[in-house]
Parts: sequence; C-alpha cells; structure tokens
Amino acid sequence: MRLGRARLGAALLVATASALWRGEPSASASPAGSATRAPALSDEACIACHADAARTWQGSMHHASASNSAYETAVYAEPLAFCRRCHAPHGDPSRETGEAARQAGITCTTCHLRSGDARTVLASPRAGPVSAPHGVERSTALGQAVCARCHEFDFPDARGERMQKTATEHRASAYAAVSCSSCHMPAAGGHRSHAFAASRDAAALARAVSVDADRNGDRLRFILEPRGVGHAFPTGDLFRRLTLTVVTEDAAGRPLATKRRYFGRVFGPARSGGEIVRREIADERLFTRTEVNFSLDRRADPTTVRWQLDYERVAFSPTRHPEEAVVEGSVTLARGTLGPPP
Ligand code: HEC
Ligand code: HEC
Ligand code: HEC
Ligand code: HEC
Ligand code: HEC
Repeated sequence: MRLGRARLGAALLVATASALWRGEPSASASPAGSATRAPALSDEACIACHADAARTWQGSMHHASASNSAYETAVYAEPLAFCRRCHAPHGDPSRETGEAARQAGITCTTCHLRSGDARTVLASPRAGPVSAPHGVERSTALGQAVCARCHEFDFPDARGERMQKTATEHRASAYAAVSCSSCHMPAAGGHRSHAFAASRDAAALARAVSVDADRNGDRLRFILEPRGVGHAFPTGDLFRRLTLTVVTEDAAGRPLATKRRYFGRVFGPARSGGEIVRREIADERLFTRTEVNFSLDRRADPTTVRWQLDYERVAFSPTRHPEEAVVEGSVTLARGTLGPPP
C-alpha cells in the first residue's frame, strides 16, 4: 500500500499553507509616489527586463512546481487545495489547476512582490543607489522569510506536526546567520542564479557529505559529516533519506550479507484524544558529524566489504520498517571497498 504525503489515517482538514508574510524589519527605497503612479508589475514584464534571472528560473523546480510529473501524480492522488496553494500559487486552489497557473508555477512575482503591492519589488540589502524603473524595497526577508513561507509547513490535518521544517532546522544549525539565498543562489555571470538545482544536482549532493570508512577486523566504522549544509541533510520533502549499505563478500566475490542504516524522518500513528494521529517518532537525518558502527559476522568469513551511501526518494511506507519502503529514485553520494584485514 502506498500512502500520499498528507494522509495517514487521520481525517483531512484543509489548512492554510502559510502564505502570510512574517514581519521582518525592512528598509524601503521606493521612489516617493511610485506605488501609486507606476503600472502593476507582471511576470511577463520582469522576464522581459531581467533576462538572466529569467533564464535560470526557467530551468528551476520553482518554475516546474505545478507541472513536474512527481507533483502531478501526487496531487492527482490527493487533490487538495492545500497542495495547490503552495505549488500553483497563481491558480484557484479550490479547483484543478488551470493551464496558465500550471505552466507558471512559482514565479518572479510570487517571491518578489508582497501581497497587495504590485509595484514595489523586494530585493536583498545592498549599499548604493537604486536605478530601477520600479520601486525597490531592500529587506533580508527575501532571502529567508520568503523561503520559509513554503519550506516550512504543517500537515493539512492541522495538528501541529511539521510536514517540512527546513526553516526550523536552519535556525538550529551552525549556519543560522547565513541566509538561504546565500547558499542556494550562487553568482552566475554577475547575477544570482535562480536555478535552485539542489537535489537534482548530483555533484552538489555528493559534496554535501563526507564519508570516512574504516575497518578493524570484524568492526566497521563510518563517519558521516555534512559539509556546508544549513539544515538537516536531507531536508525538505518527507520522502527523502540517506541509506548507507554495507555488503560483505567471500573470497570468491560472492555476496554474503547486506546491512543498511537509514537517515530519515520516521513517522507513525499515535493516539491523541481518542483519535489516531500522525507523529514524528524519530528524526534520524544527518545534522552533524555522525558515527555509525557495524560488526561483521565472523563465522561467515567475510573477505571484502563494499559500502555505499545513497540519497533516496522513497514512496511512503505504511510500516515503520524503512527497508519496506519503495525506492523511487536514488543518487550514489559515495562508495568504497574495505579489503580483508592484513
Ligand atoms: C522596465 C524594465 C523592468 C521591469 C519591468 C522590471 N525590472 Fe527589475 N530592474 C530593472 C532595472 C533597470 C533595475 C536596476 C538595474 C539592475 O539591478 O538590474 C532593476 C532592479 C531590480 C532588482 C534589484 C536588483 C538589486 O539592485 O539588488 C530586483 C530584485 C528586480 N529588479 C526584480 C524585478 C522583478 C521581480 C520584476 C517584476 C515583478 C521586475 N524587476 C520588473 C528593470 C526592470
Ligand atoms: C524562489 C523565489 C524567487 C523567485 C521565483 C525569483 N526570485 Fe529573483 N531573487 C530571489 C532572491 C532570494 C534574490 C536575492 C538573492 C540575494 O541577493 O541573496 C533574488 C534576486 C533577484 C535579482 C537581483 C539579483 C540579480 O540576479 O540581478 C533580480 C533582478 C531578480 N531576482 C529577478 C527575478 C526575476 C525576473 C524572476 C522571475 C523570472 C525571479 N527573480 C524569480 C528570489 C526569487
Ligand atoms: C511559493 C512557495 C515557495 C517559495 C516562496 C520558495 N520555494 Fe523553494 N520550492 C517550492 C516548491 C513547491 C519546490 C519543489 C517543487 C517540486 O519539486 O515539485 C521548491 C524547490 C526548492 C528547491 C529545490 C529542492 C530540491 O529538492 O532540489 C530549493 C533549493 C528551494 N526551493 C529553495 C528555496 C529558497 C532558498 C527560497 C527563498 C529564496 C524558496 N525556495 C522559496 C516552494 C517555494
Ligand atoms: C550553509 C549553506 C546552506 C544554507 C544556509 C541553506 N542551505 Fe539548503 N542546502 C544546502 C546544501 C549544501 C544542500 C545539498 C544540495 C545542494 O548543494 O544544493 C541543500 C539542500 C537543500 C534542499 C534540497 C533537499 C536536500 O536536502 O537535498 C532544499 C529544499 C533546501 N536546501 C532549502 C533551503 C532553505 C529553504 C534554506 C533556508 C531556510 C536553506 N536551504 C539554507 C546548503 C544550505
Ligand atoms: C506550503 C508549501 C507546500 C505545500 C502545502 C505542499 N508542498 Fe509539496 N513541496 C513543497 C516544497 C518546498 C517542496 C520542495 C522540498 C524539497 O525538494 O525537498 C515540495 C516538494 C514536493 C514534491 C517533490 C518531491 C521530490 O522528491 O522532489 C512533490 C511530489 C510534492 N511536493 C507534492 C505535494 C503534494 C501532493 C502536496 C499536498 C498533499 C504538497 N506537495 C503540499 C512545498 C509544499
């Protein structure tokens, strides 16, 4: 049985995706009166004037947020306003997403305009004069609070359990003082990349964790260490995990045994006021340097040990046994071989 993102036995109530602006101090640099005189800005206008940002955004998952096949399959199974409000912000969430909103996805205006003001563009703090033909409001909100509107939210049954919690993880990390955009929008030809490749960038994923493997007789020790990750690894969607696989082989190269360790969020049912609700039972993702130990079965006489660390997308498993989850996609981040002890 496959369960969707939102469901786990409990009845669904449609909750508001946190589309509200969280107040943050900001400095307004809009020319006096521009808010009333200038025409309202549209995505077409932004794209026409800002070709560099538009080009990288075109290939991003933000642009494809309502039209990629994983989302379309998932929202077909769970056709909720809750999903559409965030993935298809230009559509009417109460009905199937129309073609224009589906193609648009999350756009320039979604991130750069505050609701109710279509003339002043939100930009990051920077010194110097503004030469834009539109109002510009400089605020740290763009690179962080704007992200948190969508990258932190509860399950739709509104019981306070987080479906994604990247902003909270970020606040608790060693990089709390570094904005999301500082890491996720590298400079590209004098502009800031809007590609947000992240989990589709296999090389970046591999750089995000180091693995140190060591064998001492029948004892194996792995040190996993996230590198420059400003939150849990993996973060975001709940169907992500890292899997460390260890396979022992005999002298002829025949596999003897396979062991695995998973680093993901573990959910399970819990009782609350006579109802069964979903609860996070454990969060076993990587936050800091983590040591993992395995002991080999000496009687099987293992000669060679092959190991690998994979970044996996899985389908939700109704059981708490991570080995029963269906793996829908994976990227190998690191692998190696540990020979027999000398
Ligand atoms: C008529 C052309 C035009 C339109 C339309 C336009 N911009 Fe601009 N924008 C400019 C120019 C010119 C500047 C100043 C030079 C620069 O930074 O590129 C600017 C500046 C900016 C900046 C500040 C860059 C900095 O200094 O930090 C941002 C952010 C921005 N625009 C985003 C947008 C967004 C988002 C839209 C649509 C909602 C938009 N612009 C619409 C021409 C335009
Ligand atoms: C997911 C949110 C998001 C979307 C979507 C988005 N932007 Fe941005 N944009 C940002 C952030 C955050 C920054 C500031 C990066 C920094 O300086 O830390 C930025 C910076 C910019 C800048 C100034 C820096 C530069 O590269 O010149 C421009 C111009 C800009 N965006 C235009 C656009 C346009 C045009 C679109 C649509 C094609 C767009 N943005 C879509 C979040 C977004
Ligand atoms: C309007 C909601 C919204 C806003 C605002 C937003 N995002 Fe996203 N973001 C999404 C959605 C939805 C996806 C995933 C689309 C998909 O995979 O279907 C996504 C994808 C991403 C990814 C790629 C994830 C992956 O697995 O590869 C990164 C990185 C990211 N966002 C960072 C940011 C940052 C940084 C900001 C703020 C500057 C931001 N986002 C603002 C909704 C948003
Ligand atoms: C110190 C740098 C840093 C900061 C700050 C940071 N991230 Fe990341 N993030 C990473 C790295 C590294 C990865 C791994 C893949 C990659 O390199 O893009 C990642 C991955 C992701 C992913 C893809 C899921 C995954 O784990 O593979 C999302 C979504 C994301 N970040 C969102 C955010 C948001 C939202 C914020 C701010 C609340 C943020 N990040 C802050 C470095 C950072
Ligand atoms: C408040 C915003 C928000 C809501 C509500 C939301 N999502 Fe997402 N969704 C995101 C963000 C942000 C990501 C990207 C995180 C990442 O890539 O790790 C994402 C990623 C995804 C992905 C891509 C996973 C992958 O492996 O790349 C799918 C599919 C998806 N969401 C489906 C749904 C469905 C179905 C619903 C409704 C049950 C839903 N989402 C509700 C913000 C939201």
